[in-house]
Amino acid sequence: MTSKTIALLDGDGIGPEIMAEAVKLLKVVSARNNIDFDLQHSPFGAAAYFSDGDSFPTATKNLCDKADAILKGPIGLGHEESKKIPIDMQPERGALLPLRRRYNTYANFRPVVLPQSLSHFSPLKKEIIGNGIDIIIIRELVGGLYFGKKETGIDKNGKRFVREALEYDEDQIFAIAKVAFETATKRKKVLHNIHKSNVLKSSVLWNEIIDEVNQDYPDVTVVNILVDAAATYLCLNPGQFDVMVMENMFGDILSDQAGGILGSLGLMPSACVGPEKAYYEPSHGSAPDIAGQGIANPYSMIGSVAMMLEMSFGMVKEAANVWMAMQAVFAQGHSTPDLSKSTDEVKLITTSAFGDLVASELQKIPRVS
Ligand code: IPM
Ligand code: MG
Repeated sequence: MTSKTIALLDGDGIGPEIMAEAVKLLKVVSARNNIDFDLQHSPFGAAAYFSDGDSFPTATKNLCDKADAILKGPIGLGHEESKKIPIDMQPERGALLPLRRRYNTYANFRPVVLPQSLSHFSPLKKEIIGNGIDIIIIRELVGGLYFGKKETGIDKNGKRFVREALEYDEDQIFAIAKVAFETATKRKKVLHNIHKSNVLKSSVLWNEIIDEVNQDYPDVTVVNILVDAAATYLCLNPGQFDVMVMENMFGDILSDQAGGILGSLGLMPSACVGPEKAYYEPSHGSAPDIAGQGIANPYSMIGSVAMMLEMSFGMVKEAANVWMAMQAVFAQGHSTPDLSKSTDEVKLITTSAFGDLVASELQKIPRVS
């Protein structure tokens, strides 16, 4: 029997609750597919700082190093709570960015998918949604402003200043461009390249490299769009997009906006892929305001499981089954209080009941290998 070790980093806020549902699904997948998952939890984020004095403890690093894949819950605290942790140990700077750097997870895949069964979640009008939304945002994840040189101090006039650099070398851009073209080749062969070359030199180099890589993928049509215009088009006509590629900071912002057009960041799973290892995480935060109430929807966490099955373990069919199972639960009119209000059509259930239903829907889908 094949065996895979998965590091489970529950994270903060709603992390442990939605991770419990991911584990439920993994157990069902394991039983149906003759595959053994060695599931090992380890502390990460603010929770780890409070338990171990380190938001990315050595034991967690060791577990991640040996794991076949990493499944990570959301991290972070509310604004005031954060202040209890020294700035460089706060979960974003002290755990998440070091995790991305450690495994060089440069390729971040953020699917923005709104099937018809979920279209009532979207704030967009029916005529704009059309047949649904199906975009993949490819965000460069280990370069740009996030990882460039940073300096703060007092200038010669006695004024406080800050400087942070948006840095890329050509290898980094080539690497993410190749991922984007490969993805576009497998889909509609249209790649929207998001940039700001009317202002930023970094975008000028970025676009140059996109053009060069395009020569190796002559079947793919590149559409260049300024990032600010892309923000507008995502609201006005999301159907025009299929694969979008962009640098780190643009990707952070536009992917949250994409969550907005779906109706919730709770509908956004993601994969962060490096040369040797990948980790999977919801794109949203830890929602401390609703933590512990059993009302958070586990869609993004279970969706991250589906992405892991497909991208790390090659279980393409079973990954599709997990998506189908989740959509079936919504299509039956079930939802959780964080996503919906109770109406005649919507039956509100808890996080755990939602996970149970997804698990039982998955079991109903025949397993054809
Ligand atoms: C994301 C998040 C992170 C980011 C934060 C938590 C540092 O917003 O994954 O989009 O900015 O990359
Ligand atoms: Mg973000």
